[in-house]
Amino acid sequence: MNTNVNRALVLKGQVLTFNDNPHNYEYWETGCVVIEGGFIIAVGDARSVEVPYNAHVIDHGEDLILPGFVDGHVHYPQMNIIASFGTKLIDWLNTFTFPEEAKFSDKSYALRIAKFFLSESLKNGYTTSSVFCTTHPQSVDAFFSEADKLGLRMIAGKVLMDRNAPENLLDTAQSSYDQSKELIDKWHNKNRALYAITPRFAPTSTPAQLEVAGTLYKEVDGVYVQSHVAENVDEISWVGELFQQSTSYLDVYNKFGLLGPRTLYGHGIYFSDVDIEMLKDTDASIIHCPTSNLFLGSGLFKYQKFKEAGVRVALGTDVGGGPSLSPFATMKAAYEVAQFHNYSLTPFEAFYLLTIGGAEALHLGDKIGRIAPGYEADLTVINLNSTQIIRNRMTKSNELDEVLFLQIILADDRAIRTTYANGKQVYKNAEEA
Ligand code: GUN
Ligand code: ZN
Repeated sequence: MNTNVNRALVLKGQVLTFNDNPHNYEYWETGCVVIEGGFIIAVGDARSVEVPYNAHVIDHGEDLILPGFVDGHVHYPQMNIIASFGTKLIDWLNTFTFPEEAKFSDKSYALRIAKFFLSESLKNGYTTSSVFCTTHPQSVDAFFSEADKLGLRMIAGKVLMDRNAPENLLDTAQSSYDQSKELIDKWHNKNRALYAITPRFAPTSTPAQLEVAGTLYKEVDGVYVQSHVAENVDEISWVGELFQQSTSYLDVYNKFGLLGPRTLYGHGIYFSDVDIEMLKDTDASIIHCPTSNLFLGSGLFKYQKFKEAGVRVALGTDVGGGPSLSPFATMKAAYEVAQFHNYSLTPFEAFYLLTIGGAEALHLGDKIGRIAPGYEADLTVINLNSTQIIRNRMTKSNELDEVLFLQIILADDRAIRTTYANGKQVYKNAEEA
């Protein structure tokens, strides 16, 4: 393991990285990435890249080196309610989610689950995530302190909920302002941490609390907002009853000044063309969580419409509504959902969304998501021959898009050989040890 940041680290292998769109990419079959002080300083063909004297060289052979993956929407406190049977969104929240989230008043429980979540994310190649904590400030402290130990670039925040949830999870408009402010002062821009103001979704916040969220978004430079929108038909009717003056669910957030750059909205399944335009006009982002949408029977996201409108889109696992932290499961579900709308999401689009596309949706496209000089050194390495069925299928596939597609459909965490963050190895597949 290379833990000495002063000594250059050189990774050799196949290298793939996207530029400004899914079909504009750089690929080197015998590639080389040079890392120093946590940043990428050079990339290219191994024959032409200059390797610094005394560098630590790791040859990944025929493995594929990619930028670390971006999970645009996930709930770390829901790790232990993954795979809960038989409900849709509102019942699922009341039956499984809220009782589990109540446990995060205990800081030591929060620390344990944060650690577990982060190690599972890295095992799946994710190096940056936008993360919902719980209403307890200590759940945020636990998360950021564990992420900081690993040197990860993470977005996270305290959930705001002042109605329509169990008493032991509720805050108030005032306490949510005070606690969020304190957490922002403590964590926002501390090393690689970024703070997200996190109203859970419109039904669990009073207008006064959404007002507070909008105020914080305006007050704090570079802060994020994350929430849920238009995920489930019953949820949408409920929002219609609670906010009768709004023209749509998304318009509720708009009315409280919660749409703009760095505002990240999960789902958006039931959007009108007007809603999609509103996202585009305000430069807000949508996070597509296909495994969750299938698992909770929420609906089928229309990726193509957002793409055509030029909206920023990332993929999210939405664990525990989503049943998997696998990037392959997520890309596969995105492909399958798009098929319902007669759109075949290409493997280049899928990997783009997981890397620089996702980074752009998180307004981090100048820092992460690409393998290029000046970028932060977050990388994941894929064994393209991780199972027998993949090996069989690989013998018939030579084209890069075919190779990527069969990984999307057939691979799982056995394919993740190793993950690097901030220029250091933070996960290594035990079978390779
Ligand atoms: N809407 C409000 N809270 C949640 C949550 O925890 N998960 C999902 N998928 N949707 C939500
Ligand atoms: Zn969610």
